[in-house]
Order: sequence, then C-alpha cells, then structure tokens
Amino acid sequence: MDARPETPEPVDRLCHIADVHFWTVERNPLRLLNKRFLGNLNVLLRRRREYRTEIVDAYADHVAELAFPIVLQTGDLTSTALDDEFLRAARFLRRLRDLGPDVIAIPGNHDVYTFESVRKRRIARHLDGLIPADDLPARRTLPGGTPLILVPTVRPNILSSRGEVDADTVAKTRALVEAAPDPLIVAGHYPLLTTTHGYATSWSRRLIGADRLRDALGATGKRILYVCGHVHRFSYEQDDRWPNLQHLSTAALVQRRPRQQTDGAFTEIHAIPDGFRVFQHVRAAAWSRTEAAPRPHVPDAT
Ligand SMILES: [Fe+2]
Ligand SMILES: [Fe+2]
Repeated sequence: MDARPETPEPVDRLCHIADVHFWTVERNPLRLLNKRFLGNLNVLLRRRREYRTEIVDAYADHVAELAFPIVLQTGDLTSTALDDEFLRAARFLRRLRDLGPDVIAIPGNHDVYTFESVRKRRIARHLDGLIPADDLPARRTLPGGTPLILVPTVRPNILSSRGEVDADTVAKTRALVEAAPDPLIVAGHYPLLTTTHGYATSWSRRLIGADRLRDALGATGKRILYVCGHVHRFSYEQDDRWPNLQHLSTAALVQRRPRQQTDGAFTEIHAIPDGFRVFQHVRAAAWSRTEAAPRPHVPDAT
C-alpha cells in the first residue's frame, strides 16, 4: 500500500531500469583469451538461469502501459560486450522507445567489458542514437523541467569490475549541478555508497572516486537524487553527511531471485517541487507497486 496520497502531481515522472544483462554463451575459444573467459564462466554458471532476458519484451510492454514519458537505463545491458548481446540490447531499447517513452541510456561496466570491445567501439556502433553522442558528463532536461545529469563511471579492466570517476569528471559534474535548478537527478552506473541496507559491495566492484563525487554533489547544497544500478538490489537512502543528497539503486530488470520468489523489478521516480518520491515495482506472481521512504544511511567501517 502506498503510504501517502498521490498528490501533489509530480513535476516529472520517470521509470528507472537497470542491469538487463543480455547474455551469450561464447563458444569460440579465440574470443575467450581475455576477461571474457571469466564473464563466459559467469554466464554458464549463473546468468543464464537468473537473467531471463526472454521475458524482457513483456516487461517493456508493462512499462509502456504505465505511460512513463521517460525511461532511464543506467547500464549493463550486456554481459560480456559481444555484438550479439548489443544487437539484442539495441532491439529492446528501440522497441521500448517505439512503444512511447523517450529512452535515456548510459553504459555499465559490462558494456565496456573488454579492452577489445572498447577498441572496436562496439557500444557506440550498436547503440547509436540510444546512448548520448556528446561527451559525459552531460545535462538533459526532463519534460517537466527537472534536470538530469549523466555521469560517466565505467572503464574496462583486466580482471576486476571497478569503475572510476576522475577529478576532472567530478569538477565538470559539479559545475553542471551548480548551474542547474533543483531538485535534480544525477545518474551513473556505480553507487556512491559502498554498503547500504540493500547491498554490500566488495572492493573489486567499487567505484574509484565515489567519495569525491559524493562530497562534490553534497557541497552544492542542491537537492539531489543520485540514481544507479550495478548492485542489482533496490536501495533508497538518505546521505548521512549531506542532508540534500539521497541515493537510489534499482534491482536488475529481469533477475529471478528464487528465495524472494521474484522475477524482476524497476523503479518509478517522481520529481516533485520539494524533492522526490520513489516507488518500487516488483514482479512476483504479478507486478506490485510500493512507495519507499529513504532509510538513514549508516556509514560502514571500510
Ligand atoms: Fe555493473
Ligand atoms: Fe550489472
């Protein structure tokens, strides 16, 4: 049950989807002579059972029925950045866009999984017109006027799954935020908090420079919702250092979680004049929608 009535009317209403992870089992040994060996193993052991990408069109239909003007996709459309995975990702996003919502997409670390995939500009070739053509960070404006700042956080790695936001990107992001009216949304692939009530990240999966970006956003004094994926878990927290900053991560769109008996999730975000409202959509036997309140962030010891 929703905790509050539906008023006031949101200024902007958007759908956040994350971590679709289209996957392919690679059988050509020559294409496994890099990090893809690990990714392929992961697909064989887990992903093909958990990530039911065959139901993604039905989920897109459901999102379209809810008439969101905007769908924000924060990366990890693929598993090992192969052409076949990108072809399916592009088809999914174009189909979704044809159903109504405007789609804004940024890459995740799996979309730049190997140095080879980056060298071949695979993401730019397949997602032309779907990912920003301009350099990130960049600002978009949602139909109701809410600013959305897109932050680049991903890079290829030899083995780990680390992301990075360098000092120059932090400074540019801060300048974009300072020039924008608030409340505003900032989106990246990686979370800025390492541990929340919803997830805990290991060292090898974290964002280098996360704290620097977090403090830069907080210091602007603007009311900000930082939105990410990567952790495959829902989490909505109030920053303990910065009263003007909230953090939202969205669960993976088509992930089956047998213990929870759920088959996927996405998040509905309302920008309202004095901040944000967040609604969790979860698929069990049917879709449910529940408003979430931000939980106070408890800093971890690491
Ligand atoms: Fe990721
Ligand atoms: Fe992911």
